[in-house]
This record gives sequence, structure tokens and C-alpha cells, in this order.
Amino acid sequence: MWRYWPRYVAACRRRYGSVFTLRVSQLGTIVYLSDPAEIKKVFAGDAATYHAGEANSMLSGLLGPASVLVVDDDVHRDRRRLMLEPFTRDAVARQTRIMADIAAADIAGWPVGKTFPVAPRMSKITLEVILRTVIGASDPARLAALRDVMPKLLNLSAFQLLSITSPDLQNRLPWRGVRRRIAQADRLLYAEIADRRADPELASRCDALAMLVRAADQDGRTMTDSELRDQLMTLLVAGHDTTATGLAWALERLTRHPAVLAKAVEAAEASAAGDPQGDEYLDAIAKETLRIRPVVFDVGRVLKRAVDIAGYHLPAGVMVAPGVGLVHADDRIYPDADRFDPDRMVGATLSPTTWLPFGGGARRCLGATFAMAEMRVVLREVLCRTELVPTAAGGERQRVKHVILTPDRGGLIEVARLREPRTSPESRTGTRVAVAPDHHGEVV
Ligand code: HEM
Repeated sequence: MWRYWPRYVAACRRRYGSVFTLRVSQLGTIVYLSDPAEIKKVFAGDAATYHAGEANSMLSGLLGPASVLVVDDDVHRDRRRLMLEPFTRDAVARQTRIMADIAAADIAGWPVGKTFPVAPRMSKITLEVILRTVIGASDPARLAALRDVMPKLLNLSAFQLLSITSPDLQNRLPWRGVRRRIAQADRLLYAEIADRRADPELASRCDALAMLVRAADQDGRTMTDSELRDQLMTLLVAGHDTTATGLAWALERLTRHPAVLAKAVEAAEASAAGDPQGDEYLDAIAKETLRIRPVVFDVGRVLKRAVDIAGYHLPAGVMVAPGVGLVHADDRIYPDADRFDPDRMVGATLSPTTWLPFGGGARRCLGATFAMAEMRVVLREVLCRTELVPTAAGGERQRVKHVILTPDRGGLIEVARLREPRTSPESRTGTRVAVAPDHHGEVV
């Protein structure tokens, strides 16, 4: 199952129907759900009954005990409330220019005339976006150190991951390296937090960290340094590789569908010229990509009391798992579900229980608006600045990487030539950020 997770679960769905139980070592009993009506009960259910934090608890060794991802009940509600501001539509709109500049600088260094995996390039772009817009880092030495340590923490091997699920292991020799890296990342994050607290311009800054430092609940309580550290680590981990993988899948799908690719290039040029229809088609590509290749295949909730669901009486302790990928592959919901067809998303009203790449309910992805904006902007830059070569190669398989599903070969693409967008970037709106490509085409 660990190796062939989506295929295994899809096979179970075919054999046993829309609800079935898996008993998995380390995780316990998991009841998969793929009927939207049953999933609705979970997402709309009482947060005290359906514990998502507990389902994510194996990540607390890295994210920290205060992370919004691993807590439940009132603590979760209060923490999440303090974190909403940077992820509102308006706050995200203020960051799109930075996203575009970072993407443009990276694309300038892409190889021409040979096949390369695009996932690592996307990872670099989305990491830089988070470092600049969420952490708000600008000190060159600290940025360089964060660029170095964060990918190492996010690309831990299965063996190293054991020390995240059982943090005591970090005191033992084979895992001490993990402890060192976490400590190094912590030092950098605490330095950013200290800088922000001391910044006389704090009130006018628009990076997420500045907003989190300012955020106060109704009693005026603000987050402590260690709470802020845990939330920053959470945003880095939850927001970086997920978005990069969504983007890699989008390009993998587009290059294998030449007619859609041609339409996407036109939409990107229109978007760059300020035409909302261009934006809409780019959004449709992102939505369809996340439908057909969901980065997160399922989400979990641990039951705190017995519930009746899908015709079964499930005891406390069981994990119910709305099967995102199962719902998205259902032909009754998406006719010809295996076909990549962004047009089906244009003008469509998506229901939260049939299009759920960001999970749902009170735990729905905090960064969904941010991720969708980033996907649109980065896709636009790629499509306006490169000529992508369509390929007749077969689609890449989904490979399990920790909790996400990446393209098996990293999303192989080829760029025929680099080009300039038809509309000059200077005419677009938003805040500029200084990003210049260095001699490797990397953002400095
Ligand atoms: C395409 C990109 C992304 C995908 C597919 C994705 C998907 C998800 C999913 C499935 C969940 C769990 C939802 C649930 O349990 O119902 C989640 C939670 C979360 N995501 Fe994302 N995510 C993405 C990008 C981001 C970004 C860019 C950020 C922030 C910068 C972010 C921050 C979070 C946080 C903080 C949570 C925890 C929410 C909570 O427990 O209240 N994500 N995401």
C-alpha cells in the first residue's frame, strides 16, 4: 500500500464499494469514504468529534506542538483565527507581483532544447515565494541559509522520517543530523521573528510573519516566539512542496495535451494583458490539474466518539478518510474522469464535497487562495516566457512522497526556446521585488 497507495485504494474502491476499511500498521483502522454525501457529514461535523490534528500528529516532531495542523478543538479554532489575515484574497493579491518576479527570474535559467524534470525548479520557485512573502526574509545570508536547510528538511528519507514520528530518536546517532537541521532552521526562523518584533515598520509590512506577530485575539493575547516558530514551520512544510507538485503536474499534463497547451499559452498572454478570461482559463487548468492529479490523496479525521456514517456504526479511535482522489476519479461526478479537460472547470460551480484538493470544513487548507493564486501566476510566467514542446510520451505515474503524490519522473518537460511575454511585465500591477538571476539563473 505504501508504494502503490492511490492504485491500491482505487482497487479497494472497485472491489468493496464507496466505503471500505483498511487496517494499516502505525496508522490503525482507516475507513475510506468516497460518497460526497458521507464526506459532507465529516466536513460539516463537530470538530470535537472529528479530530484532524490527531490524524496529523505524526508531523508534530517537525512542526512543533503549537502547529495549527496538529492541534484540535478550541485551541485549533483560536490559532487558525489568528492566522487568517495573510491568506485572505486581498492579502494574497498583494503578493502576486513578487510571485511573478520570482518565477520569471528562475525561468530565465531553464535549460533549452533538452528534457528536464520541472518539479525541482517548481520547488525552488515556491520555496522562494514562501521565504519572501510568508517569512518576509530579506537578509541575503539568512535567505541563503534557509534555501539550503529547508529542502533538506522536506526531503527526508523514509529512515530519517522515523525520527519525526518518534522525536526521541533524534537523540540517537543515525538521526542526530535531523535534529541538527531542525535546530539550524529554528535559529533562522527565530532570528526572523526577532527582526520582525524589532522592526519600526512592522505595522505597514505585508509579509505573513508580520501579520502573525501583530495578530491578537479578543483578549489581546498575541503569539509567543515558539508559537510563531511552529506556525512558520507549518506554512513552509504545508505550502512549499504541495504547490510545487501541483505546478509540476500542471506542466506534465499540459505538455501531453497539445491542444490544451496552445489554448493555455493564449490564456497566459491574455492574463498578462489584464484580461480576466485569461485568468479564468489558467485557474481552470489549476483546478483540473488538482482534480485529476490531487497532490494530497486523502485527508484524515480521528473519531473522538462513535458515529453512524455510510450505514456503519464506527467506534471512537477509528480514522475516517475522505478519499479526495477517489471522488475526483468518479465518472458519475466528472464524466470521462480520466480525461484532462480544463474546459470542464470554466464557469463551473464547484461543490466542496466533489472538488476537494484542499480538504474541507473547519480544517480546509488555510493557504488554498494563496496556492491557487501562485499556480495561476507561475503558470502564466512559464507559458509566456517559454515555448514548451508538446510530447507524445505517456503520462507519468503518481509516486508517493511522504504524504503527497508527485510525478514519477519529476514532470519531464522540454523548452524549445525562452522568449519574452507579448505584454511587458512593467505594465502589470502589484508590488515589485528585487530578484535578479545569478549566473546559474537562480534567484539571488
Ligand atoms: C496546491 C497546493 C496545496 C494543496 C494541494 C494543499 C492541500 C492541503 C490539504 C489537503 C490540507 C488538509 C485539509 C483537511 O484536513 O481537510 C491542507 C491543510 C493546510 N494547508 Fe494546504 N495545500 C496547499 C498549499 C498550501 C499553502 C500554499 C499553504 C500556506 C502557505 C498551506 C497551508 C496549510 C495549512 C496551515 C493547513 C492546516 C489547516 C488546518 O489544519 O486548519 N497549504 N492543505
